[in-house]
Amino acid sequence: MASFYVGVLALVTVLLIGIATVSKSKDQRGREHQRALRIPSQFSQEECVTMKETLKGAIQIPTVSFSPGKYNTTALTEFGEYIRKVFPTMFKTSFIQHEVVGGYSHLFTVRGSDPSLQPYMLLAHIDVVPAPDHGWEVPPFSGLERDGFIYGRGTLDNKNSVMAILQSLELLLIRNYIPRRSFFIALGHDEEVTGADGAQKISALLQARGVQVSFVVDEGSFIFDGFIPNSKKPFAMIAVSEKGMLNLMLQVNVTSGHSSIPPKETSIGILAAAVSRLEQTPMPNVFGSGPLTITLQELANELSFPANIVLKYLWLFWPLVSRLMERNYFTNALVRTTTAVTMFNAGVKMNVIPPVAQATVDLRIHPAQTVQEVLELVKNIVADDRVQFHVLKAFEPVPVSSYDDQAFGYQLIRQTIQSIFPEVNIIVPGTFVAYSDSRHYSSLTTNIYRFNPLYMQIQDFHSVHGVNEKISVHAYETQVKFIFEFIQNADADQQPVPHQHEL
Ligand SMILES: *[C@@H]1O[C@H](CO)[C@@H](O)[C@H](O)[C@H]1NC(C)=O
Ligand SMILES: *[C@@H]1O[C@H](CO)[C@@H](O)[C@H](O)[C@H]1NC(C)=O
Repeated sequence: MASFYVGVLALVTVLLIGIATVSKSKDQRGREHQRALRIPSQFSQEECVTMKETLKGAIQIPTVSFSPGKYNTTALTEFGEYIRKVFPTMFKTSFIQHEVVGGYSHLFTVRGSDPSLQPYMLLAHIDVVPAPDHGWEVPPFSGLERDGFIYGRGTLDNKNSVMAILQSLELLLIRNYIPRRSFFIALGHDEEVTGADGAQKISALLQARGVQVSFVVDEGSFIFDGFIPNSKKPFAMIAVSEKGMLNLMLQVNVTSGHSSIPPKETSIGILAAAVSRLEQTPMPNVFGSGPLTITLQELANELSFPANIVLKYLWLFWPLVSRLMERNYFTNALVRTTTAVTMFNAGVKMNVIPPVAQATVDLRIHPAQTVQEVLELVKNIVADDRVQFHVLKAFEPVPVSSYDDQAFGYQLIRQTIQSIFPEVNIIVPGTFVAYSDSRHYSSLTTNIYRFNPLYMQIQDFHSVHGVNEKISVHAYETQVKFIFEFIQNADADQQPVPHQHEL
């Protein structure tokens, strides 16, 4: 999950715009899917010990991704053997089919007893970013436990999810659970370096089989704690969309020559001016499209005057809030396609005018726009025929998934949050400004949700892709419990959730 925390910090910053909070609880929405014969999410002391030791073992396998197509295949193979060893029930259950895809990714097909119910899908990724030893309190692949925390690369991103999904299913199977609704578990092995060899192949395989799923749940968002100033109130955010990307190379190719008889403009000058125009002319502010306004309005209830009024009457304060969002780069990333000039190359010798100058621009596309629209805008802003454009890499934003009362997947996540984290009263939709494997599954469903059932504090964000990444033993147990309940909740028939808006 590349720099995933930026999205959250963005929201946090919104809240920091002079906003303090008051405590006020909100009517609980959502619906309990009552079921007979429900297996309680209670685990024995012994099971809890096994659970955490199993996670530690997974952390110890250095499944590092280095660059697209380059990852530690020895470790990935070892990881495959490891899950077979620690989750034996899963691997011998007749209604679960296991396949290795793309050499190292894993796909589990769990066949439910009621084929009329549309299946869903749980995602996580096995690979981790590199972790140089420097700065760590314990070696990053030791999986050591200290003061109630398990340390190591992957404890938050994202072996916790890989192991918690498999662990909760293993525990359910041991209790003779048979799901009604079928589901897939897809564990990619190269998410950190595009997911082209893992998630993309799994998705293609399922597509070839004609599979359509009701919804997908992946990593990406959390329960945020301590993010609202002056408040102890946590809020859960379920990310319902993801930005797209356009990596563009701008090139100027003009006649070269000696620097003693220079032309009026050189390739460097022309390109520098083009790049400067791009920086000076931001892409349009599209505040108002996507879930952001809902997010702000739901959070409004928790804020103090005047922020609560401003956000509650957004239709009135629209221009003000829209402008405030632009004021810092975190919130700015939520209201527009961003433009970042990342490379600039030209020239080889002090007295030679270089014929060619090149720059690359990384544009992250807001879900309200498309790659083509953004490319046209860039060309219009640059407005210079001498500048050529080459698309290096591009993908469209992931469309916004539904998050209304009828959205089955969203409501299931909501319902499970309310039961496992009863103290969390605020559950809001959000946008993810980085990438997850889930975007590769857009052809299987229009409902993709990104949520990890974990508390995140501001300091935790620096540990993901940084040093001293760690998860508390209690948080991991809770994550297992969440998925254990979620799988059972998903067995409910798909029915519209009754309207219970507060007046
Ligand atoms: C790859 O993983 C193996 C363990 O499976 C480890 O011994 C080896 O050092 C790792 N290689 C790199 C380059 O990290
Ligand atoms: C620049 O233009 C010249 C002449 O048209 C061509 O030979 C050269 O390949 C071009 N360079 C690049 C990097 O496109």
